[in-house]
Amino acid sequence: MTQGVKILGIESSCDETAAAVVVDGRQILSSVVASQIDVHRKYGGVVPELASREHLRQIVPVVREAMEQAGLKLEDLDAIGVTQGPGLVGSLLVGITYGKTLADALGKPLIPVNHLEGHVHAVFLEAFQKGHLPRLPAVCLIVSGGHTVLHEVKGTQQNGPGPFAYRKLGGTRDDAAGEAYDKVAKLLGLGYPGGPILDRLAAAAGNVPAPVKFGPTKTRGNALDFSFSGLKTAVLYHLREHPEYSGGIRQREEALREGRRSFAELLPLCDAATLGLVREFQNAVVRDLVERTMAAVEECGVETILVSGGVAANAQLRASFQARAEERGVKVYFPERGLSTDNAAMIAAAAYTGFREKHFADVGLNAKASMPLA
Ligand code: KG4
Ligand code: ZN
Repeated sequence: MTQGVKILGIESSCDETAAAVVVDGRQILSSVVASQIDVHRKYGGVVPELASREHLRQIVPVVREAMEQAGLKLEDLDAIGVTQGPGLVGSLLVGITYGKTLADALGKPLIPVNHLEGHVHAVFLEAFQKGHLPRLPAVCLIVSGGHTVLHEVKGTQQNGPGPFAYRKLGGTRDDAAGEAYDKVAKLLGLGYPGGPILDRLAAAAGNVPAPVKFGPTKTRGNALDFSFSGLKTAVLYHLREHPEYSGGIRQREEALREGRRSFAELLPLCDAATLGLVREFQNAVVRDLVERTMAAVEECGVETILVSGGVAANAQLRASFQARAEERGVKVYFPERGLSTDNAAMIAAAAYTGFREKHFADVGLNAKASMPLA
């Protein structure tokens, strides 16, 4: 049997039910993700009540599959790590209750994990697979549908990454970047979630003329804070002022209703102005994320950037970070797509730090809607 500390990770903070087995916080034996996108799609966002019910349906088969793929029995595990927060309380409670029950029945420790810390560990998991060891301290950007936050991360990596200490540098004052993607995609009749399709349409836009330009966002006070709701509103006003977009939007909404939602099916329904608008929106988001992160790198004097969360899968964001990091002589690390979006391998990896620190929970463990890292 595999040597090392075998941890089952359970994740249910939002709209993905996930389970994974990771050894010593580095080696992924299995990682299973059941996405609820099909359930929430017609509402254009996650409906909390439906999410909880779906987690209840999925949690048992997902954990079973993770154990089967890992080739292990539940008794072989050394511990169970579960996301405690932040997230939707009703959703979190499904994973927590299942984790508690398993841990109690098996007589194994239960380790509470901060979902955001999971996203940080996703970067280290990926780096390990490639034989890299990101140097600390680092600046870490977590950018997803629920979060857009910048931290300075300090810590050791002697027996595996962590424990880490965090200092919050900035965060969004309104929408998360992924939320802006999802809302703009909805306005344009491009479906849910918006990030992946807008990412590809922006690339397909090439150099069509820009129908509008979005300037850099200004935030009073902390220069490392983000704000994306103004950009979303600017897109909304632009669409209202230009009724010529509405025919295309209707056609795409019709296509979505008929289940034609792939990039190849939607691209021909986007005219040059729509493609230009998508490209300008993405340019504005990427510029904002990269510029503020680079300012944080400057301020903290670090040589490493970690980028994680669903939006970290964005092709332009990755290319832009690569270019800027190279220019400045610093290193940037991202998880691959499957580890960027919500998954349980990152939760099991983060739980390994808790395991070494003996940071165990008892049956009183409760969900936390809000759970800042610092
Ligand atoms: O990390 P994640 O799976 O869940 C949260 O914790 O929120 O992130 C999901 C978010 C969604 O808003 C989705 O639109 C966005 O990540 N996303 C992207 C891309 N892929 C996913 N945004 C921009 N470009 C992408 N390629
Ligand atoms: Zn997440």
